Amino acid sequence: MTQEHPSEWKRTCYCGELRAADAGKSVTMCGWVNRLRDMGHLLFVDLRDREGLVQVVIPAGNEALQEQAKRLRMEDVIGVKGVVKARDAKVVNPQMATGEVEVEASALTVFNAAKVPPFVVADPPQATEELRLKHRYIDLRRPAMVRNLRLRHRAALQVRNFLNGSGFFEIETPFMTKSTPEGARDYLVPSRIHKGRFYALPQSPQQFKQILMISGYDRYFQIVRCFRDEDLRADRQPEFTQIDIEMSFVAEEDIYALVENMMADVFGLIGVKTAGPFERSPHQQCLDRFGTDKPDLRAALEIRDLGRAAAGVESEILKKVLAEGGIIKGLFVKGAGGMSRSHIEKLAEKAKSLGAAGLIWIKKQDGFKSALKLAEPDYEKLWAGLAGEEGGLGLLIAGQRETTIKALGELRRELIQEEIKKSKAFKFLWVTDFPMFEWSEEEGKLVAVHHPFTSPREADLAFLEKEPLKVRARAYDLVLNGYEIGGGSIRIHRNDIQKRVFEALGLTPKEIEDKFGYFIEALGFGTPPHGGIAIGFDRLVMLLAGEESIREVIPFPKTTSALCLMTGSPSEVGERQLDELGLTLKKT
Ligand code: AMO
Repeated sequence: MTQEHPSEWKRTCYCGELRAADAGKSVTMCGWVNRLRDMGHLLFVDLRDREGLVQVVIPAGNEALQEQAKRLRMEDVIGVKGVVKARDAKVVNPQMATGEVEVEASALTVFNAAKVPPFVVADPPQATEELRLKHRYIDLRRPAMVRNLRLRHRAALQVRNFLNGSGFFEIETPFMTKSTPEGARDYLVPSRIHKGRFYALPQSPQQFKQILMISGYDRYFQIVRCFRDEDLRADRQPEFTQIDIEMSFVAEEDIYALVENMMADVFGLIGVKTAGPFERSPHQQCLDRFGTDKPDLRAALEIRDLGRAAAGVESEILKKVLAEGGIIKGLFVKGAGGMSRSHIEKLAEKAKSLGAAGLIWIKKQDGFKSALKLAEPDYEKLWAGLAGEEGGLGLLIAGQRETTIKALGELRRELIQEEIKKSKAFKFLWVTDFPMFEWSEEEGKLVAVHHPFTSPREADLAFLEKEPLKVRARAYDLVLNGYEIGGGSIRIHRNDIQKRVFEALGLTPKEIEDKFGYFIEALGFGTPPHGGIAIGFDRLVMLLAGEESIREVIPFPKTTSALCLMTGSPSEVGERQLDELGLTLKKT
């Protein structure tokens, strides 16, 4: 084994590229031993590289080569020289892209032998996710991972070309910066030169992209890493990538049209036609219909309001809820009349765990059956309110608005699982008309629903000080198949309004000055009306790839507890480094 790659082993083609038309060609390939099969007189080596697998035959009669091949082990990195041969029709392998050919080897060399790998490189993966992440270099050899990362690369390229063609500049913004509030905690970087001071890694480039508009760059984009210290889930990572976009002299419609065209371009990569305009739903209406602001529209099931239908119904429970200002809403599940009691009980438990007092079910099959005892005409009223049909199941919740909507939204999500699993559709939705602020129980204060740079509606400005919860924002989210894949807004471009929004959020003049003084100052130097959006690139690629976790489309992801199992980060640092940074650790 030499350190250099010898020139006589210069590769002439990738393993996975070979097709019937290549028969007769002499080739030199470099790759990893995927599998070795010893048939006695013949030896087969499946050789793998980025482009796929090809079968290499070590011919009978070449004793020296046979001896050499017999010593090969899984994942050894080798070079093979040989001739491409068409396979006999009997042994064509339709499962392999290269299945019509094989390479008859004349020479092979081992560039580097491999230790026994902790798991076999195969799809679907043969190891736990923990082991796969610890040895990510091996896991990334799986064809499915190569496919995902290739798709990610192609999607990024498509986006860049599309935005370049639409007049955007890609401009980089700093990673070592000041806090950018997006609702999560910051990752901080201590400064050695300025002890006791910290840079924050950006939760998004929000302020910088707005500054670029102030500077007149007109159309900016960046495929950019963002950092957020928040609870992780299958669709959240502490560092993730956004397609970040900002434009001057625009309104909502311009952003919608741009993103709809960009999506058409990107989905073309997987042969899916998407066309704008996408469906739209104002935030409150979206919650009322689907119980969530990121509904999966691949299923038609919608929550129905039964307030009117229930008004005259003789039921103490329903009357009490209505008298207390509550709501009654329900779902009608077609053809689910046969759902077992235990299944309904499970759904009821779920609803209760989300704060609902209970779940009322009604079935109609040769008359009504229900957990709630009512007179026949009252059943008819509720059934009509549900738009019920024979053989179906009605599920009702009565209670306070927020908990009722949320619980029905969760039940809807569960009830549509089977239907959406079968669906190949991509259903986009713009959610519009978000409120500007919401009350955060956790923080005990008002917080911005989007971010504080979002423009309130002109007509609602008068409520900013006295009734901030009434103020609507010029914000929008893009939802795809139940995932929030983007969010943006038209921005505040006047510094007096920006100040009033910070004040409404409870910031003191000193806090406003310390945190955002530079930004408010900048707004005073000729800021054009502007707006933008950021698309979650990992989520987008996950959906393009048909995966259920963004970890499958990120080469080196963290676990849900924010660990990198391969490198062991985060890791402890030595006294000396802490000293240099002027830091001492608290004893825990
Ligand atoms: P927002 O916070 O909505 O908006 O983020 C935009 C999109 O980024 C994705 N995203 C994430 N993806 C993976 N892991 C995470 N932890 C994570 N957090 C967010 C989502 C989300 O829709 N500055 C604004 C954009 C703007 O106003 O232009 C912003 O960052 O898909």
